[in-house]
This record gives sequence, structure tokens and C-alpha cells, in this order.
Amino acid sequence: MPNHRRVYETIRRAITEQVLPSGCRLPSTRSLATDLGMSRNTVLAAFDQLLDEGYVEAKTGSGTYVAYNQPDEFSKNPGVTSPLSADGNIGLSKRGLAASSTLNNHPGDHPSNHPSNHEVQPFTSGADDYSKFPFELWRRLLNRQWRTLNPALLDSSHDGGYLPLRQAIADYLRVSRAVNLKVDQVLITSGTQQSIDLCARLLTDHNDCAWVENPCYWAARRVLEANGLQLHPVAVDNEGMAPTTQDFRVKPRLIYTTPSHQYPKGMVMSYGRRRLLLDYAQNQGAWIIEDDYDSEFRFEGRPISSLQGMDQDGRVLYLGTFSKVMYPGIRLGYMVIPPQLVASFKNGLYELQRPGQVMIQAALADFIEEGHFASHIRRMRQTYAERRRLLQAALAPVANAGARLSPVDSGLHLVVEFDAHIDDVHVAAMAAEQGLRVYALSNYCEGAKQEKGLIIGYAYAATEHITQYGNKLAEIIQTALR
Ligand SMILES: Cc1ncc(COP(=O)(O)O)c(C=O)c1O
Repeated sequence: MPNHRRVYETIRRAITEQVLPSGCRLPSTRSLATDLGMSRNTVLAAFDQLLDEGYVEAKTGSGTYVAYNQPDEFSKNPGVTSPLSADGNIGLSKRGLAASSTLNNHPGDHPSNHPSNHEVQPFTSGADDYSKFPFELWRRLLNRQWRTLNPALLDSSHDGGYLPLRQAIADYLRVSRAVNLKVDQVLITSGTQQSIDLCARLLTDHNDCAWVENPCYWAARRVLEANGLQLHPVAVDNEGMAPTTQDFRVKPRLIYTTPSHQYPKGMVMSYGRRRLLLDYAQNQGAWIIEDDYDSEFRFEGRPISSLQGMDQDGRVLYLGTFSKVMYPGIRLGYMVIPPQLVASFKNGLYELQRPGQVMIQAALADFIEEGHFASHIRRMRQTYAERRRLLQAALAPVANAGARLSPVDSGLHLVVEFDAHIDDVHVAAMAAEQGLRVYALSNYCEGAKQEKGLIIGYAYAATEHITQYGNKLAEIIQTALR
């Protein structure tokens, strides 16, 4: 960890464990910096974060004190200071209440609302290395739009998003992902989460059934549940989603799947399974949501074509995101809608979301058209391939302790699988104690079939440190399995 982070963590822990009680005065940043042999800026950065997160309070002229209302206490006891009415209802509809309650209810070791739990650590899965993003160039492209100041770009976004961006995406998807589409079918959203939400709102009714993969991307599960859908987990095997006769009896309205790179386990859906799902969806009148979240980062073999490209009946809604290639806070993604749904989805997007940020969409269109998107992907693919290779090498010894390393030829994470009796949540907690945030596979599973293992992201960890971190993680895993 960087020094400011270590200082922050140490003080935060001392506060939450009440070694430093409420009202206690912290040493001055100057004296603490001298004691620790660190620069004052380092200590200031740690104090700033503690202030931002509400652990400490600054009193002008007298110093910094441990706060009386700790952020943890607030989340444990929201009635004290939140604007809830006596029955805890803030006036949301049933659907809205479901949405808000699930927000506080992430699985086990998943990022919760607590700000420090959102901190990205070397192996946090889902995090990409946006420090390598060409920010200077991006600033120039944004400035160019601001200088031209086309009034249309200051309005909310009508008709599915900024047309040149939709054209650029359509060209990219036709060539790179074998998606079969006309520009009119492309809609710009604020990311996959919003795209799934729109599908759920427009295509389902409360209590309808949605099939999800088991294990499954937790955020997709959350948004479907928040829309009042009954989730039916369908196991995956090495050919992807594997519905059985029993599953076929539970008729879905929606099927959420990640065919190019199953999340989190990483397999590619076979041709046979693709045909099976498409035929079943057509017979049942169900819709398939294809979440193609990381296909830009394929390191070996031929590109995998999209499921949408095989769909002759207009049952697949294809989703992509810019979170991984650009930076997560850009909040831009896209959907490719079957032709018969285009009008209602454009209308729904506009009426439910009032999308905007057209200026950023215009800069992104330039970024793609001028070739920067493709070259950034090429550069990052090399970087991530190298990190993947180093991490695989560092983790290889876990095989001696009985763990299995998933084969990875694409994406930004890998999975180490354990035997069923291993407590993977405990192993993840051991890693977290060493500053290595990895996720327990069982937290992504529903029902009786609890697979065990760890999901380990390699995109964020610096290339020069990954072997060292990987060795440490391998040791932790081996110790836990012994
Ligand atoms: C399976 C999957 N889908 C989609 C996303 C991206 O979602 P969003 O576009 O909402 O950032 C992620 C990010 O980690 C993911 O793992």
C-alpha cells in the first residue's frame, strides 16, 4: 500500500476499534510526519481522507479530533439521523423500496455502502487500470467540443443518443463482435446496470421469472431483483449456461447471460448451447440479455462472435460498456435492441432516464473515429496479458494444495477454485487482512450449489508488483488449504 494509505488505515482501524475514542485529539500532521519519518503531504493526504469519510473532525485553530458520529454507527443505526419516517418508509413504491433495500445488501464480502469498501486494491476484480488512459488526449477532445459549443450537445439526449457515437459503435460491433445491426438499433445508456434496468422495466412485470447464471454477476442480480423479478439460477458447466429439464419447467421472461466470457468463471458458451437458448427463447417468447462486458480484452485465439449475431428471431438484447476500456466513472454503455423494440426502448429510455452528457458522447465519438479507442485497447490488451501471465505464474503453486486455476484467455480476472468444503469467505478475509481484496466465489452463487474459490482481478495491480502480490496471495491460499 502507498504510505498515505497505510497511515489512513492504521488510524481508521484505531478509531473503529476504539483505541482512539470519540473526542480524542490526533497529533498534529507535522509532528506525526516527523515521528513516522514521512513527508507532511503524506500524512495530510491520510487526514484528508479520514475527514472526507467522517472519521475525524477538524476544529479550526485547535486540531483534528475523532468524530462523535462515526460513519459505521450511521449505517448500523440509520434511524438516528436519516430522514426516514417512523415506519422506516420514505414514501417509495413497493418496487422502489425493493430497489433501495437491496442497495444496502450486497453479498458477504462485496463492496457495501461504506466508502472504504469501495477502495480498489491490487486484485480487486472489475477494476481496470485507468491510470494508463490517455487523459491529455481525452481533455483535448472534450475541450474541442466545448470550444465549438454546439447547442444541441447541451440538451438532453433524444432519439437514443448522439448519432455519430451510435454510428461508431455500430461499425465497431459489426467488425469486432459480428453483431448484426442497423445504427437505429443502438442506444446509448449510462452503463450496463442501466441497460439491464431498462430491459427489466420495459420487458417484464413484477414477479416475472428471470433466469440468471449460477454463479452470476452480482450487480445484474441486484438490478433484476430490484425490479421485483423472481430469479431462477441456472447452473453453468464448461459450455456455459446449462439449463436442465427442471429449469425448462420454470418459464422465464428474461434470460441474463454472459456467453463470450461467463462471469465470473470465464468459459465461452458453446455453439450447441447458443442454439438451444435462442430456440428456447423464441418458443417461449422470452428475451435474452447478452452482457458482453469485456470482449475487447481477448488475449489468445480467435475472437468469439456474439450470440446476437446468431439470432434470427430478434430475441437478443446485446449490452456493452465503456467502463472497462475508458474509466468506470464515465458511465456510458450501449444496447443493441431487436428492430421491433426500437421505438419503445427509445421512448422508455427518454421518459424514464432523461439521458444527457451529449458533450461526452461527442468526444467519445471522436475518440473512436480517430482511432484512439482501437489503439488504447491494443495497448491495454498487451499490459493486461502480461499481468495475467505474471499472476498465473505466481499462483501456479496453489495447485500443489489442491486448488485449480481457471484457464483464462480473455478478460480482466481469473478464478482459483477450491473443493466444496473450503470456506472461501474465510480465505478472502485472510487475503484482505494483507491488503489484497479478492472475492469469494460462493458469494456469487445462489441456492444449494455453492461453488468455492476466489475471484482475482489482475487489471489494476501494477505490473512491477504483481509477482510479489501474487506470491503473497499464493501463500495465503496454500496456508488456508493445508
Ligand atoms: C459481468 C459484468 N457486466 C458489466 C459490467 C460493467 O457494468 P457497468 O457498465 O454498469 O459499469 C461489469 C463490471 O465489472 C461486469 O463484471
